[in-house]
Amino acid sequence: MTRVLFVCLGNICRSPTAEAAFRAAAPQMLCDSAGTSDWHLGDPPYTPMQNAAKARGISMNDLRARQFNPQDFEAFDLILGMDDENITKIEALRPEGSETQVKLLTDYGTRGETHVPDPYYTQDFEECLDIVEDAIAGLVKALA
Ligand code: 4NP
Repeated sequence: MTRVLFVCLGNICRSPTAEAAFRAAAPQMLCDSAGTSDWHLGDPPYTPMQNAAKARGISMNDLRARQFNPQDFEAFDLILGMDDENITKIEALRPEGSETQVKLLTDYGTRGETHVPDPYYTQDFEECLDIVEDAIAGLVKALA
């Protein structure tokens, strides 16, 4: 079974949304999410993000932010960042010899997106959900 970790900057918008969408679509899979920053440690997902997700049947109020760390390369088989900056920060912590796959979530999407724009800044939660849900559907198919 593939253990999947979703990573963004704050772990309160994009990666918890991806985690919750993945959990809803593939409850038997092992997954988690984390942020490259320590800005929101222990915080629940951003309320407007939670509300927009809830309207689509995605519940994430029980999730709490944590920071990505080098042990995650061992604990997970596939690490998915939301943008290139996430990928750079993840790769900077890769332990020597680790061959864990690190990719963009949008690599699994069908919309030609190259990243998930950060809704904390854009305030476009629907765009975030559209891109995340599309890519999660592709991810679930790829792992089936
Ligand atoms: P996320 O969004 O990386 O999708 O969780 C952000 C959340 C908070 C901040 C930045 C990005 N912040 O600056 O606090």
